[in-house]
Amino acid sequence: MVNKKNLYKPVRIGKLEVPGNLFLAPLAGYTDRAFRRISREMGADFTYTEMISSEAVVRGNDKTLDLAQRAPNEEIYGIQIFSGNAESAAGSLEKLLPFRPSVIDLNCGCPVPKIIKSGAGSALMQTPEKIREIVKALTSITDIPVTVKIRSGWTSDTINYLHAAEMALEGGAALISIHPRTRSQYYSGKSDWSCIKNLKEEFDVPVIGSGDLYTGEDAARMLEETGCDGVMFARGAMGNPFIFSEAKAVLNGEIWTGPSEEEKVEAAFRHFDYAVEYTGEASAVKEMRKHLCAYTKGIQGGSAFRNRIVHGTSVREYKEMFEEFLKNLRENSGDGI
Ligand SMILES: Cc1cc2nc3c(=O)[nH]c(=O)nc-3n(C[C@H](O)[C@H](O)[C@H](O)COP(=O)(O)O)c2cc1C
Repeated sequence: MVNKKNLYKPVRIGKLEVPGNLFLAPLAGYTDRAFRRISREMGADFTYTEMISSEAVVRGNDKTLDLAQRAPNEEIYGIQIFSGNAESAAGSLEKLLPFRPSVIDLNCGCPVPKIIKSGAGSALMQTPEKIREIVKALTSITDIPVTVKIRSGWTSDTINYLHAAEMALEGGAALISIHPRTRSQYYSGKSDWSCIKNLKEEFDVPVIGSGDLYTGEDAARMLEETGCDGVMFARGAMGNPFIFSEAKAVLNGEIWTGPSEEEKVEAAFRHFDYAVEYTGEASAVKEMRKHLCAYTKGIQGGSAFRNRIVHGTSVREYKEMFEEFLKNLRENSGDGI
């Protein structure tokens, strides 16, 4: 049984003190401004943008740059970049620093072939010296902390997270986060938390652990078992920003009673409203389908309902759909849900 007392703590990232240790992971296609805003409301202590292409920023792609915008409640936040070379990484700062991020994070974990071809993402696990070079280029331009997110290695035969972390630290990284799966694993199989523990024991640097965090209890277990400084929720936060309040309660040794179905739907629509505010209704509707599906996971009747969700075309239509869904749930449960 995990002793959860005192597991909720601040994390120091160079000159920055983050008041708590519950992080929202960077998630391409998910952690946009709207999702980060709702996650902050629910207790995320630190949020990262989804990965942003340094090359595209340097080329002046405005749509890419839009991804770097902070939400009104992100007093602190990190911008994650992906880059295969020091020149473009450093070059992108000219356009990214005006957003006043608290941290710049370098992605060394993305497994997608298109990204790897450019030498970025998890390709950097195969060229750890390049991690040092890129981080050095970044830290020589800015005094805001640079953090690095790594995997455990490229394949199970080439596990090299300790070397990758060493390179990052030599370049001046202020924090390492690790998703301890190899590139070959993508997101399947179990993440190997022993890597997190080894990393923490080997280096005197704050370490944030990622991998298979779906409940507050998981967060407590990772902190206890690995000694890491903080945890980063990824798939566990999709459709469930409540995970931050849950984890905070658990880490403080408090009882957590989950949200009601009404509260889940209310959060989903607040999230939706933010998306409309930032991108307009047509784009928000497209973006929100996957989120709305995720919010209904685990709700009775949710699976059949999700077939309808993918066909909605306006906020009004979705609101009506969800009202009807909640009404049916209430009637079926007899005394409220
Ligand atoms: C859809 C998806 C998108 C992701 N995008 C990013 C990204 O942009 N940058 C990054 O460093 N990691 C990214 N990741 C990895 C997550 O941040 C996290 O490390 C990983 O999912 C392991 O945590 P989990 O097992 O709790 O999901 C992504 C993962 C998923 C599933």
